[in-house]
Amino acid sequence: MDRSLTDRTLLMIPGPVELTTDVLVAQAKPPLSHVGPDFREVAAAMLARVRELFDAPGAQPVVVAGSGTLAMEIALANLLEPGEPILILETGYFAARFGEIAARLGAEVRIERAPVGHTLDPDRIREVVHRLRPKVVTITHVDTSTGVRVDVPLFAEIAHEVEALVVVDGVCSIGGEEYHGDAWGIEVGLTASQKAIGAPPGLALLTVGPRAREARAKRSAPFTGYFTDLERWFPVMEGYEWASPRYFGTPPVTLFPALLTALDALLAEGLPARVRRHARISQAFKAGVDALSMPNRVTQPESAAHTLTVPRLPAGVGDELVGLIRAEGVTVAGAIHPELRGKTFRVGHMGTCGPAEILTALGAIERAAYRAGAKIALGAGLAAAQRVLVDRE
Ligand SMILES: Cc1ncc(COP(=O)(O)O)c(C=O)c1O
Repeated sequence: MDRSLTDRTLLMIPGPVELTTDVLVAQAKPPLSHVGPDFREVAAAMLARVRELFDAPGAQPVVVAGSGTLAMEIALANLLEPGEPILILETGYFAARFGEIAARLGAEVRIERAPVGHTLDPDRIREVVHRLRPKVVTITHVDTSTGVRVDVPLFAEIAHEVEALVVVDGVCSIGGEEYHGDAWGIEVGLTASQKAIGAPPGLALLTVGPRAREARAKRSAPFTGYFTDLERWFPVMEGYEWASPRYFGTPPVTLFPALLTALDALLAEGLPARVRRHARISQAFKAGVDALSMPNRVTQPESAAHTLTVPRLPAGVGDELVGLIRAEGVTVAGAIHPELRGKTFRVGHMGTCGPAEILTALGAIERAAYRAGAKIALGAGLAAAQRVLVDRE
């Protein structure tokens, strides 16, 4: 028997996520020439859908082989010159990563950190923005280490009061949370393929607006990156869209069709309906863990993301719970934020995730916690989730 079948567990980490058969099949097709007409058509269709996904008709989409971290680096490397000020709105481990990248680029880094599990105070940020007048402000829409969702339009508006360029990390949000790149004036939006979009890992996606493009063109310091240089990638992306494919670095020709298939499904569902589904599933799952005395209290309810949940471990149970849940057939993730290790775990519910998946996950969590000695009533979490699902059907 194929071990991949018998050993398979339901993947409920905050990315990568489960893939539909259509997406798996699209990825399994034979490779195409990266400069041939068939691939060009796939790439052009995929880029058009990326514009829709980011709701950014006026921006240039750029999709390259890599992960979300590469997209973050591309964004900052192209916008920042050494010594220029950048403000990092820090709501967790991934938001902090922007600060590390900016420091390596020689920028003047200012970090405004929210208490773990909270979003930022807009009055405080407005005051800092006006004092610092940063060239770039980074916003992490959903930080996957804390489960905190930030009000992107609110903070983007504050950043624009001093004409800062706004970079939004939508790695754990875009495709699952409401996002409007152009209406919110986002200069660079970015995500990765493996989360709420429901595609395999391996692609970094960006949308680059006119002000960001101008900032790259007007740089005075030499650009020391090579693969990360957007000026190299714009002609490649435009070439796909304008029917004259060009080469810079060989694109991942088997991943583009998988992304296109995932985006087709996403847009067929419709972004508003997809955001509603994520909200409903999240509410049901959170009700389930709350009923198990594993309240989702790490993240303040008003800023809790819909794409994942960060429950506290039950009293007397440690990180071993993650392994016990896996033994019950569901893979969840441990904590990644230094302050949350040994206290929490993380469950992703994004992409094509529906009632079946969250009920399976809650069942596995209940059994694992029960076996670990937690004082829980078997079925309590499932019942609470069912009540939300029934009410909101
Ligand atoms: C919010 C956020 N930003 C950035 C990243 C980094 O993405 P990647 O792991 O694809 O490099 C992640 C990864 O989980 C993330 O959740």
